[in-house]
Amino acid sequence: MTVTLDTILRYGAYVCVHAGADARPLAGLPVDALAVRLGLTNEFATTTGHPADAIAFLRRVNVTAGHLDDAGLLGADAVVHVASDAASKRDAFCDEVARLVAPVAACAIYRGVVRPTLYTSGAMHEFAYAHQRTQESAAAMPHAFMLPLKKTPSWWQKDWMERQTYFLPRFDDTGRMINEGHALAAAAGVPSLMRRTYKNATMPAPDGEYDFLTYFECANADVPNFHAVCAALRDSSRNPEWRFVQEGPLWHGRRVPAWASLFG
Ligand code: HEM
Repeated sequence: MTVTLDTILRYGAYVCVHAGADARPLAGLPVDALAVRLGLTNEFATTTGHPADAIAFLRRVNVTAGHLDDAGLLGADAVVHVASDAASKRDAFCDEVARLVAPVAACAIYRGVVRPTLYTSGAMHEFAYAHQRTQESAAAMPHAFMLPLKKTPSWWQKDWMERQTYFLPRFDDTGRMINEGHALAAAAGVPSLMRRTYKNATMPAPDGEYDFLTYFECANADVPNFHAVCAALRDSSRNPEWRFVQEGPLWHGRRVPAWASLFG
């Protein structure tokens, strides 16, 4: 297969379920059986990175509102992640869960795709990706954070060459660093955070949708580090790129083994 910047490498979705006052009818829905029928492997126990056809169950710890209104994620008691190289498998799962949940609870589905990186040179790949933390078992990395983002129209008006400059540090003529840029500001996350970003299938995203669905996993000890990395990225004196970012809610969950564990 010839890979271009438009090639879709993977399809993912987050199914966000708002249980309401009585979660008992949800717990009995046959979602685990659906996952088995579709051949999805649970990320909960993985020891070899992301399973090819993957499912994960995330139970809310807390949620913090962002700049953008989003009742679907703000109200989510549970999030189910599904991913596959086949759009049909992801969509079959999402459609069937939506059908099962509809009579008893509200559900919001966020879909995205993985495409090749846009701004990453060989040297940046070595810095930001080659030594990054990959997915581990939930026992080792129990925390899950979902943070959807949208970039402003003025970001999208820039040519890609200008956008690319925001991922690197800036220097003045004497060689003094003026700011770190995205990758260096976030560098503390490379060895400690599992990162996963889906992009909207259309970029920039249509009105009312996110451009990026970012997601992270980490160990208990690295939760403060996750928040420190986010704070560094949000500090526009360190990372001017964030002036063009509008955040959705930051949803913090715990990885649990099965659908029924979401609502007990
Ligand atoms: C943990 C260390 C991190 C490193 C080393 C890192 C590095 C990078 C790099 C190199 C890119 C460019 C990818 C490309 O070539 O297309 C990128 C993109 C991106 N990163 Fe990070 N990142 C980190 C953490 C984060 C965090 C914590 C967030 C969210 C809070 C985030 C959000 C994004 C988004 C949304 C993009 C896509 C931006 C765009 O295409 O305009 N990153 N990151």
